[in-house]
Order: sequence, then C-alpha cells, then structure tokens
Amino acid sequence: MQQEKVEQTLVLIKPDALKNSVTGFLLSQLSEYHTGSRFAGAKIVQVSRMLAEQHYAAHQGKPFYEALLDYIMGRAHYPDDAWKRRVIAIVYLGPGALKKVRSVAGPTDPHVARDEQPGCIRALGTVVPIKNAAGEVISERLDNLIHASATHDEAEREIKLWFTPCDIPPLMRTYPTDVCEEHYYLKDGELSDTYEPGSVCLFAPGDVVWSSDLELLRSCTRNAQAASSCDVVIAKYLINRNPLDD
Ligand code: CDP
Ligand code: MG
Repeated sequence: MQQEKVEQTLVLIKPDALKNSVTGFLLSQLSEYHTGSRFAGAKIVQVSRMLAEQHYAAHQGKPFYEALLDYIMGRAHYPDDAWKRRVIAIVYLGPGALKKVRSVAGPTDPHVARDEQPGCIRALGTVVPIKNAAGEVISERLDNLIHASATHDEAEREIKLWFTPCDIPPLMRTYPTDVCEEHYYLKDGELSDTYEPGSVCLFAPGDVVWSSDLELLRSCTRNAQAASSCDVVIAKYLINRNPLDD
C-alpha cells in the first residue's frame, strides 16, 4: 500500500457545535482512531471581525458573507452572551489528514450531508434563511458545525492565520520558521518599530515566527503599506488579548 503523505489541516469547531454541546462527539469523530491524525495544536478563540474576515476572505461579497461572519464570530448563536462566543481551533497532523477530515465533516450543506452521507458531522447541521430588508430570502446560512481546510494551500494559510509556531510542538511543525531580530508594534492600526504607550508588541527579538509572516511584516514597513495589508499576520497576535467590541 502506498504511504500517504503526512499533512496538516485546520479544524474549527464552530459556535453552533459548542452551543449544541456536540464538541465531544466531534472530537471523537476526529480522533486518531477514526482519522489516523493527531492533535498538533488547539486553542479556544473569541473570533474578532479581523480574524473572521481573513479566514473567510474568499467569500467576501457573497450574499451570505455578513451572516457567515456573524456565525463564526459567535454573534448568531450568542447574541446576548458575548462571553460565550468562541470556537475551538485545532491543527491536525497525519497521513492524508486533509481528505480524511473533510470526509468525516461531510458536504458543506447540511441537507446534502443528510441525503448523501448520513452519519457525517455536517448531517447534524441547520440551514437558516437570510432575508433582505424587504423580507425576501436572498441566501442561506449553513450552520454546519465544523470547518476543515479543503486544500494544502488553504491549510497552510489557515494554520498560519490561527496559530503561531509556538502553539505547535516543534517536531509537529511543517512550515518554515525564523527567529525575529527586530520589534514590530501596532498602535491605532499603524505598524512601528518603536514602543509607545498603548502599543501592542506583535514580534520581539528572539520570537519564533512563521518565515512568511516575517517577510510580510518587513515588506509592509519597508514599503510603508497600510498595516491592514498585514491583517493576515496581525489578527493572530490579537487573539484573546482584549474583550471584543460588541
Ligand atoms: O466549509 P466548506 O469549505 O465546506 O464550504 P465553503 O464553500 O468554503 O463555505 C464556507 C462556509 O460558509 C460554509 O462551511 C458555510 O458555513 C458557509 N456558507 C453559508 O453560510 N452559506 C452558503 N450559501 C455557503 C456557505
Ligand atoms: Mg471552504
């Protein structure tokens, strides 16, 4: 039998799964026993709009986009209890992990999942109509309990978006890292190499960082680009830092 390549994939246990208390079931379905993959990283995240926008950047402009952001930010399932809004982000590592986890998750649309793959995780999901101001249904929000990266490129982008290298044990990391030699601070949406009161320190000398993150921050400061072009790096360094605005 041909050896399957060891891969990494990002899984998100979405707010509807947490609200419906099916987390244990999902983790069990994703266990090494079922998928042959192992946990390489895990964190509980209250999702900011910046992180949600970066995660679902490919869907910007679609009729369900705003509803999708509300969903992943936990606003849809916890409109009044902001403190309960969270997802569980997990990195899985194993042979053929991408395909196996997508298969355990099942088709995107819960109705299709129930028809075509009863027993998959997304078969337990819900479909919520999205209406315009006139009350007409313009799209659907698919509350499908779990996110799983679809391709290698998507997995790399998503794992680097949600996790720093130090969230993952060194022998389980598969993307190149560097040791940063400079400071990068963020204040009022501006990047800087100098601390001022109110600055957030993104990178400090000696930090282990994704090589691609370091390149992007360097090019942003060198070319005086807007810090927002580095949101894909910045978002993860703001995870769980301060309470989010409602
Ligand atoms: O998650 P997956 O890769 O299977 O599907 P996608 O097409 O990349 O869409 C991302 C997510 O957007 C889905 O998992 C759904 O939760 C949501 N979605 C939605 O709410 N309404 C749609 N009409 C399509 C997708
Ligand atoms: Mg997708």
